[in-house]
Amino acid sequence: MERSKFILDEKDMPTAWYNVQADLPEPLPPLRHPGTKEPTRLPPPLFPEAINEQEFSTERWIDIPEEVQAIYRTWRPTILHRAHRLEKALDTPAKIFFKYEGTSQAGSHKPNTAVAQAYYNKKEGIKRITTETGAGQWGSALAMGCAFFGIELKVYMVKVSYNQKPYRRNLMETWGAQCVPSPSPDTEVGRRILAEDPDSTGSLGIAISEAIEDAFARDDTKYSIGSVVNHVLLHQTVNGLETKKMMMEQADAYPDIIVGCVGGGSNFAGLFLPFVKDKLDGTKPDLRIINVEPTSCPTITKGVYAWDYGDVAGMAPIVLMHTLGHTFVPPPVHAGGLRYHGMAPIICHLHKLGFVEARAVNQLATFEAGVQFARTEGIVSAPETNHAIRVTIDEALKCKESGESKTILLAHSGHGHFDMAAYDAYLSGKLVDYEYPEEKVKEALKHLPEVPSA
Ligand SMILES: Cc1ncc(COP(=O)(O)O)c(C=O)c1O
Repeated sequence: MERSKFILDEKDMPTAWYNVQADLPEPLPPLRHPGTKEPTRLPPPLFPEAINEQEFSTERWIDIPEEVQAIYRTWRPTILHRAHRLEKALDTPAKIFFKYEGTSQAGSHKPNTAVAQAYYNKKEGIKRITTETGAGQWGSALAMGCAFFGIELKVYMVKVSYNQKPYRRNLMETWGAQCVPSPSPDTEVGRRILAEDPDSTGSLGIAISEAIEDAFARDDTKYSIGSVVNHVLLHQTVNGLETKKMMMEQADAYPDIIVGCVGGGSNFAGLFLPFVKDKLDGTKPDLRIINVEPTSCPTITKGVYAWDYGDVAGMAPIVLMHTLGHTFVPPPVHAGGLRYHGMAPIICHLHKLGFVEARAVNQLATFEAGVQFARTEGIVSAPETNHAIRVTIDEALKCKESGESKTILLAHSGHGHFDMAAYDAYLSGKLVDYEYPEEKVKEALKHLPEVPSA
């Protein structure tokens, strides 16, 4: 009998996060100040001190506070599955494993950092937090984290997703958060964008600007971000550490290929960073790590590697990353969590150094893969995750052609139970592909900040 799932006991859960900054062959370039554009190690006064320290830390292991571990234990460790039924349907000799983060209360990987961030804010006496959300997964996860620690939360939700996914807003409200569509009339940035374009569908870059402006305006408020930055990727490594232990100790396996979707990069980096460690130290030179993004928002595959702001209004620090330009507003694909102009600097740095690769896929093909996954493995996946499923299936089919029995590990970032409008559109033939919006990207790239050399 071949096992279908691998389960770790609560007592064997990781007690420290893995910080890849300790093992990078070249350090990450320092941030640039959004005003002076000079190199800075000083983060803006947006986050609690403990988070600021983690952002720049080069300690390899950072302890997970016991209070955070206790909350993690309410849904972690998550299960590592072997996709036997999908393998059979594809008639592939490949072995497909997937680590499923959809069993968190909020339905995705996002609570791994939401709970940690809410904890550090609470510890430093913060009463109120602001944030942005794309598809609503991050906003709902932070709403839950803030509910656990008694912190007020205001979420700026990208307008196209606010309209596509009303139940995500209800979920945030149930956990006690306030959620408004972005661009909103509540901030100066929002009012300016609405005056220029009353029909703006919004973007993560706009929503981030609104949340930052709101946090800067009040002494009792800090800002929290659900992806991109180093400390978020750090918190997500709890997942990769669990997975590595389960694969090596229980499944007697090690991946040849790891696949995940990337919006800002947090779910995928959380899974692959503990494995990339083995590539960095030369023990697993052949491991392939594939970042998957939408054709309509192809940050790594078509963007430039340049200094850019993390938000539309230029209030966030300037970072060196792959970018489509901070003013770029991506087409309204259903994978709202992948509509971001930039990418985690850690992923971009690893890409530049040749440790990870990237691929872009079209919306319709991702839903086709998601439906095949649902009909074989039973899980209805988030539209974001469907991007990773597409490439997993493509790689498994390549194995069928070549006869190779590769081990593929899929980062399954969440369920799609609040995304049924997207499935409805796909199943009724109304969903369309959005091609790469080359002209809009060209225009946005004209607005990159000029940064003096260090
Ligand atoms: C289910 C799911 N997967 C993936 C993502 C993409 O974000 P990240 O790249 O930070 O994992 C999101 C973002 O909202 C999401 O909700």
